[in-house]
Amino acid sequence: MYTKSEIQELQHHTTAFLKQETPVSPDQIDLLRRILVFHEYRYYIMSDPLISDTEYDKLYKSLEKLEKAHPELISPDSPTQRVAYELTSSFPTVQHLVPMLSLENSYDEIDLLDWHRKNKELTGLEEIEYCIEPKFDGASISLVYEDDHLARGATRGDGVAGDDITVNIKQIRSVPIGAKFSKFGLKQVEVRGEVLLSKKNFAKYNEGLIAQGLLPLANPRNAASGSLRIKDPQEVSRRNLEAFIYHLSYYSEGEAGGAQAPQTHSETLQMLWNLGFRSPVREMKVVKDIESVIRYCREAEAERDNLPYEIDGMVIKVNAYELQEKLGMTSHHPRWAIAFKFKARQATSVLRKVEFQVGRTGSITPVAKIDPVAIGGVTVSSVSLFNEEVVREKDLMINDTVLVERAGDVIPYIVKSMPELRKGSEIPIEFPKNCPACGDELVKPLEEAVWRCTNINCSAQVVERIIHFVSKDAMDIRSLGEANVRRFHALGILNSIPDIYHLDLEKISTLDKFGAKSIKNLKEAIEKSKQQPLHRLIFGLGIRYIGETTAKTLANAVDYLPDFQHFTMEQLLALEDVGPKVAGSIQQFFSNDDNIAMLKKLEEAGLKLHSDRRTMQSGGSLEGLTFLFTGTLSRFKRSEAEEMVEANGGKILSGVSSKLNFLVAGEDAGSKLEKAKKISSIKVISEEEFLQLIGQE
Ligand code: IVH
Repeated sequence: MYTKSEIQELQHHTTAFLKQETPVSPDQIDLLRRILVFHEYRYYIMSDPLISDTEYDKLYKSLEKLEKAHPELISPDSPTQRVAYELTSSFPTVQHLVPMLSLENSYDEIDLLDWHRKNKELTGLEEIEYCIEPKFDGASISLVYEDDHLARGATRGDGVAGDDITVNIKQIRSVPIGAKFSKFGLKQVEVRGEVLLSKKNFAKYNEGLIAQGLLPLANPRNAASGSLRIKDPQEVSRRNLEAFIYHLSYYSEGEAGGAQAPQTHSETLQMLWNLGFRSPVREMKVVKDIESVIRYCREAEAERDNLPYEIDGMVIKVNAYELQEKLGMTSHHPRWAIAFKFKARQATSVLRKVEFQVGRTGSITPVAKIDPVAIGGVTVSSVSLFNEEVVREKDLMINDTVLVERAGDVIPYIVKSMPELRKGSEIPIEFPKNCPACGDELVKPLEEAVWRCTNINCSAQVVERIIHFVSKDAMDIRSLGEANVRRFHALGILNSIPDIYHLDLEKISTLDKFGAKSIKNLKEAIEKSKQQPLHRLIFGLGIRYIGETTAKTLANAVDYLPDFQHFTMEQLLALEDVGPKVAGSIQQFFSNDDNIAMLKKLEEAGLKLHSDRRTMQSGGSLEGLTFLFTGTLSRFKRSEAEEMVEANGGKILSGVSSKLNFLVAGEDAGSKLEKAKKISSIKVISEEEFLQLIGQE
């Protein structure tokens, strides 16, 4: 897409714009837009950014300012034109230029060999070139470009017509809103692809839902297709959807003629990539025999879990368009392509009983105990049912045969029950009226789907709160994991969070499996946790609706944690990402005397209730310096190192660029190290040198 000299030129201008104190002048608006499109491509298509997010934001804001002052200079493919503030009223139905067909499925080698044999018969050839690529497990879309601009984006619908979701498509940053098809002599173009939500973003999104007491989504596929139909484009943007474009379904030739249109599928993928699309060029493989197809499909299946997104198989396409035409299609699928489906991640089992777990906020979660069943290499015997509504909606009964799915890293869930297999021995699932741990009566707030135990001293809640407090992303007291918390609580030596700091280690040392070494580790881990930054403590308190991000916002908003007692609703609402629900929860927590007393006890035990915001922002030894960590680190965790940098006033960058001062390289450092070596101003240092720099060696 970009030649070496173009990259150098754009990078040169980027640095100049970032340094420039004065506003960008209107005659440079095109250059500024080119720069932003270039950096979006590096980030969203190549996953190899050359500048940090903050630097990108700075350039973006300059463009926004400039366009506001000179609206006549706004161009339709300006990066700012993705943004939409208005809610969408409806998604009108639109006809696809070419019907969106489905794919024929194959499940094993015999199916593939059979398909290959038919291809040979129909083409009269002995050797056929195939292009193999992932079968992305998302929601399919079609995009129409007219005169190099994205004119329309639509869902698949019934294959003939779908919903016009152009506004939402524009929120997907890997879909270019301008693409120079005219360079290839093409005027109107229709391309197809798949919209996905990465496993990471899916997990993050579900965490948010769970924290709000809402039901998590079943899998990234459902999350992607649901996201495309949201009527609030800003919410669509927040979901961080991605898109792979893998098919050119239609084109009309422009004045220059279509002479340069690609002749093979792999050339098309390359052309799309060069035009700024995220096509699977890096993932595809072109081979000349069916044995290689089979081998590559098997290899891909073994690697499936290592991908950042879900795939449910591979798609094999006859590479030459001439042969594709010869093979043609049925009314359902093209004959020139076939999907090779990976082994299902679904299995049937029998629901034996339902247990009710009490969460740290008192929520009661039904958990199905099923006959153990292997799904995708993992044995599943316990499946969350989330809440009563889910149980009723899925019509679940004890002794029912159920279909269970486990997609990648996603928690297993019950897809459906199978009432047709009932024998009469099924028993309805009864929901308890009282807390299974403390016996208090359960309540169900009107606007919620879950039943709750409101007794904050309920022993089950206390245990869950302690488990959360010591967890990795909170206070990270490793030696005190879930099992030990439960054990110590059962022994009556750990009944509250402050108890952690007064554990009777002598008594613990008499317990089974607690040698001198374990006691030493436990003591050290507890001591070390006293130095955790305030935001980890806030997150660890498990205040309802307060995730890691909000905890950081809160830590930056006070000098001394108990000061939140005096915050008004207005003050809380003025904080970033704090809405009425979150603000109400903060007020509720800090107006409770027991909670304030608990904070005082923690302070007495040596924990920091003061914010490090002042030291973080200025005066640190690394002030004004930028860092990036790469490779495998052995002296500290990446997150710890990044916190150390920030605590000393330094900044973390997301990529190697001329703005970077130090690259800390661990073992097996790869492309980032190579790139950094080429920029003479970057100092590459070891972990030891980094520790020396911050005075910790
Ligand atoms: S090609 C005319 N390639 O799978 C052929 N489809 O089960 C168009 N899919 O409807 C399809 N990854 O939504 C193609 N690399 C890929 C794909 C892919 C996912 C989806 C697509 C299709 C469905 C069929």
